Amino acid sequence: MEVLLTAERIHARVTELADEIARDLDGRPVTVVGILTGCLMFTADVIRRIDLPLRVAFITASSYRGETTVPGLLEIRDELLPDIAGRHILLLDDILDTGKTLTRVVAHLIDRGAVSVKVGVLLRKTGRQEVPFEPDYVGFTIPDKFVVGYGLDFNDEYRHLPFIGVLSAGE
Ligand code: IMP
Ligand code: MG
Repeated sequence: MEVLLTAERIHARVTELADEIARDLDGRPVTVVGILTGCLMFTADVIRRIDLPLRVAFITASSYRGETTVPGLLEIRDELLPDIAGRHILLLDDILDTGKTLTRVVAHLIDRGAVSVKVGVLLRKTGRQEVPFEPDYVGFTIPDKFVVGYGLDFNDEYRHLPFIGVLSAGE
């Protein structure tokens, strides 16, 4: 598999981002909300650099692209989300692709009473966005290729890889 981002590069960049996030929080308590499952490693690495009062929570967001359901429909599940009313939120996801997931999830968190929602993505794909959405923190901008590793999957596999690789046909 072609390695796009080595574990070392990811570590260095995530450290930078986390320090920037911590500076911007400026002492304010935060609830970090990760979108499962892709956010796994990114969230674990970011929160360990933030020395502030902090809560961690997770939600799931699954889009249906099958034939039997409405295309583009997104199901958000937040049974594991604690009360976020009055809280500042840092929402983390693995990758910004079309932008549909993050747009919907931000609206959902505001609806649940969050005071502010800042968004951090590890990756942003070029030329794929379908809805206007500007994340507050971006780790890397990458070409339009299907990538796996460091939380990102194909069919729920490859998430455990410490690097990010480009998945090519046959792998
Ligand atoms: P969006 O709603 O189109 O922005 O979808 C974002 C979601 O699509 C991410 O959270 C990933 O789960 C998935 N995704 C998009 N591109 C890739 C990729 O290259 N590899 C793995 N998952 C991807
Ligand atoms: Mg995913």
